[in-house]
Amino acid sequence: MQIRRIGVLTGGGDAPGLNAVIRAVVKSACNSGIEVVGIEDSFDGLIESGRTRILTPKDVTGILRLGGTMLGTTNRGNPFAYPVSTTDGKVDYSTRVTENFHKFGLDALVVIGGDGTLAIAHRLSQNGIPIVGVPKTIDNDIVGTVSCFGFDTAVNFATDAIDRLHSTAEAHHRVMVVEVMGRYSGWIALYAGVAGGADVILIPEIPFDLNIVAARLKERERLGARFSIVVAAEGAMPVGGKVSLLAEGDAATAERLGGLSATCARQLETLTGKEARYVVLGHLQRGGTPTSHDRVLATRFGGKAVECVRNGEFDVMVASQPPEIVTVPLETVGGKQKRVPPDFDLIRTARALGITFGDGIGQKC
Ligand code: F6P
Repeated sequence: MQIRRIGVLTGGGDAPGLNAVIRAVVKSACNSGIEVVGIEDSFDGLIESGRTRILTPKDVTGILRLGGTMLGTTNRGNPFAYPVSTTDGKVDYSTRVTENFHKFGLDALVVIGGDGTLAIAHRLSQNGIPIVGVPKTIDNDIVGTVSCFGFDTAVNFATDAIDRLHSTAEAHHRVMVVEVMGRYSGWIALYAGVAGGADVILIPEIPFDLNIVAARLKERERLGARFSIVVAAEGAMPVGGKVSLLAEGDAATAERLGGLSATCARQLETLTGKEARYVVLGHLQRGGTPTSHDRVLATRFGGKAVECVRNGEFDVMVASQPPEIVTVPLETVGGKQKRVPPDFDLIRTARALGITFGDGIGQKC
């Protein structure tokens, strides 16, 4: 089938590099004679009309370095369980998506999103829409790809924040607890923690015991260090405990995590007798200009996605498996998480350096 017109949309939380993917898709598609339609606010733009626009290379000029997404996004837009503000409750709008896909004259879709969006993309593929997925998340937890754009930018930002927090920690002889994103996986906490010289790193993959953390902080004090830095992924949890939640989720909305660093700081103050403060980096990690690494990765993903469209390769996700950008079946991706393996070399190295993960394994200097 000859592809003449494709749609592109971004779903889930924003990540630095989304615009770089859109730009790569638009430029490479247009250079191959394929028209690109930008779809606004994830699948919402396919549920009602008036939320699409033709994108030409001119429209994407200057967006390479911009954070966010020029198309808008939502992490509430699951067409299979669509939230509406009436008493009808959840409505399945997936048929409407397929109808509008044809009504808008589209031959294929490029869907840029995280594991939730990609799971929806696979279901829509099965309903007959030719789709190529592009993985997006600052958390770096999508299976099948070694890395995602946005992760490098988030780690750089968090590292810079930890560097800055050292000033107050040192000056006031305090414990500073820094909460970073990472709901199911601790990639950001691990990389930023090691890069920022943290003393304690708490990640979802390794349940922690604050008594062990406190013992480590007191040990540091005994050895002459008068401050400590704790980096905690928002999804880390105590042994036998639960993740800290701000709000429960439902079929269409993910639960909202938060509160871990406040609890840790309060309890560590009690356990160590040292003054503790906490900082939640939150959405600052998702903002701002993408690093050159993320711009290049995003551009490679966008270019590969259009290659797939031209080759008629659908129901796949483009993925980074260095040195190549490859494709993996979409069905292997959605709704799963790539977690930090407990025997990952950076965990072993961090432990060897004396960083504790709150599980009692590690050195004491
Ligand atoms: O992109 C994933 C993520 O960064 C998670 O780590 C975090 O829990 C979530 O997004 C927060 O998303 P929002 O507050 O935008 O719903």
